[in-house]
Order: sequence, then structure tokens, then C-alpha cells
Amino acid sequence: MEVSIKINGKSYERDIEPRTMLVDFIRDDVGLTGTNVGCDTTQCGACTVHMDGAAVKSCTVLAVQADGASVATIEGLATNGTLHAMQQAFTEKHGLQCGFCTSGMIMTAVKLVESHPDIEEDDIRHGLEGNLCRCTGYENIVRAVAEGARQFDPHSPWEMEPAEHKITLREAERRARERSRA
Ligand code: FES
Ligand code: FES
Repeated sequence: MEVSIKINGKSYERDIEPRTMLVDFIRDDVGLTGTNVGCDTTQCGACTVHMDGAAVKSCTVLAVQADGASVATIEGLATNGTLHAMQQAFTEKHGLQCGFCTSGMIMTAVKLVESHPDIEEDDIRHGLEGNLCRCTGYENIVRAVAEGARQFDPHSPWEMEPAEHKITLREAERRARERSRA
């Protein structure tokens, strides 16, 4: 079955099995492996992506349902080598340990903050209920989302403020390597 799905601004045309799930299309057909599969049963949220502007669990969406849709994955959040405000906040507040849940957490958090720019801690905890983390105990994740919300400019969802807090992907990778050696 022929489908055409735009992912991170680029169209991918593929001939797929009708039963192919969107997460498998993203990972196996397109090769973007930042979106993870934790449970395959709609519980963990590791597979969360944006589809036509909404956060969805891509393990429960058929790729044919996304035919003609515009999808964003974690790989599409950074612009010109600069982390999105939410990625930057997770880095600065150490909102991860193994990182398996992180792409889904961030994709959910971005939509949460877009729709609630003045979000409170209770709203963050409630909004992340569909995303499970086995490592962190959630405290730093909640702090990271609050920080991401603080830096978020609601009038320009893909921009970050203040500029002096921006770090490049290279710098984020360097910090991650340092943390893993610590
Ligand atoms: S892999 Fe989709 S919700 Fe767990
Ligand atoms: S950081 Fe390991 S599952 Fe969340």
C-alpha cells in the first residue's frame, strides 16, 4: 500500500504493509530511531510524536492513518544545530537517566507547554501521566518541563528565550559524555 508521510518537513513515499504502525514506519522505513518502543500497548509514551500538531502515541497509529499527515519526531525539534527549549531544559535540569523515555517525554511536554504557557506543577504531573519513566522518579523531569515552560515563547513556538541559555547540539553531546564518565 502506497503512503506519503511528511516527517520533520520531508516527504517519505513508501510501499508498506497495511498493518504497519506509524512508529515502525518512522524507525524502520525512514530510519529515525530517536522515537522508541517501550511497551507497544499504548501505556509508556516512549513512542510519542506530533501528528498534525497533536501529540500521539505512534505505536497505536497505523501508518496508513498518517498518509498525507505532517509528523514531527524528536530529530525535528532542534533547529540549525540549536536545541529546542524543552530539550535544553531536560539537559540543564538532568531530566533523564537512561534516556529511553526522554524523546517521548519531550514531545509530550512540548505540546503540553504550547497549550498551557503558564503551566503549574500539578498540570505538568497530570499532563505527563501517559509517559512512564523507570529511572528518574520524575522529580527532575517535572523540573525540566517547568524550566522548558519558563523559557518557552508562546508567540514563537520553535524559538527559545533567553538566547544566552542556548547551547548547541555539539555542546549537549559533550555534556552528556561528561556525565556518562562521571
Ligand atoms: S511504545 Fe507506544 S505507548 Fe509504549
Ligand atoms: S530515564 Fe530511563 S526510563 Fe526515563
